[in-house]
Amino acid sequence: MLSVSNLSISFDESQVLEGFNLSVESGDIFALLGDSGSGKSSALRFIAGLENAMNGSVVLDGADLSLNGVHSVKPELREIGMVFQDYALFPHMTVFQNISFGIDHLSKKSKTEKVASLLELISLKGIEKKYPHQLSGGEQQRVSLARALANSPKLLLLDEPFSSLDKSHRDELVKDVRSILKKQSVTSILVTHDEAEAKAFADKIGKIEKKQLFIN
Ligand SMILES: Nc1ncnc2c1ncn2[C@@H]1O[C@H](COP(=O)(O)OP(=O)(O)OP(=O)(O)O)[C@@H](O)[C@H]1O
Ligand SMILES: [Mg+2]
Repeated sequence: MLSVSNLSISFDESQVLEGFNLSVESGDIFALLGDSGSGKSSALRFIAGLENAMNGSVVLDGADLSLNGVHSVKPELREIGMVFQDYALFPHMTVFQNISFGIDHLSKKSKTEKVASLLELISLKGIEKKYPHQLSGGEQQRVSLARALANSPKLLLLDEPFSSLDKSHRDELVKDVRSILKKQSVTSILVTHDEAEAKAFADKIGKIEKKQLFIN
């Protein structure tokens, strides 16, 4: 389970979040809505340990990751996966190299098996040798998801991963990614502008208003 409490973030004297609280049960998918500039990405970045805050604590599966605004665990040790809006795949690396990037310490055999099973999970078997530019936007987002899931994170953060895709592809991918995350019981937070997308994807929805989170 993830619990974020009393998060307060400001930039240059302007307060973005103040007393923001959020809990996500293990295996649940939570959608975070809010106007542009309301602090959605900042909240995710703090949970990942990438953003500083005046105050705020993060507990994930019983472990303190941040306490009263101080990060106690480094981002790379948090066991948190992230997927962003622009498919952040490395353009000069193949799909195999992209997905296995975070599990490079494993043997060649384990990596090969792991990548094959992740590609099966995202319904893109056999594309190990392709480069990102040879894939559609939706396919690139599936590969980004596979990469984020490769080291079995305890929490997955998705920051508008569908918003650069056209509507027809988006609806299908939203459904598919939800079913992949549910199959693997990955606790997840999706940031989106789109209320319909939030409803189709998440078990629970909250909205940032007046610097705080309100659960619908
Ligand atoms: N590193 C930074 N330095 C200064 N201001 C920042 C920084 N990061 C974010 N902000 C400001 O904090 C506010 C919240 O930004 P944030 O990116 O969290 O919003 P958001 O809800 O994700 O918006 P969007 O929906 O447009 O992505 C914005 O006003 C933004 O300009
Ligand atoms: Mg944002």
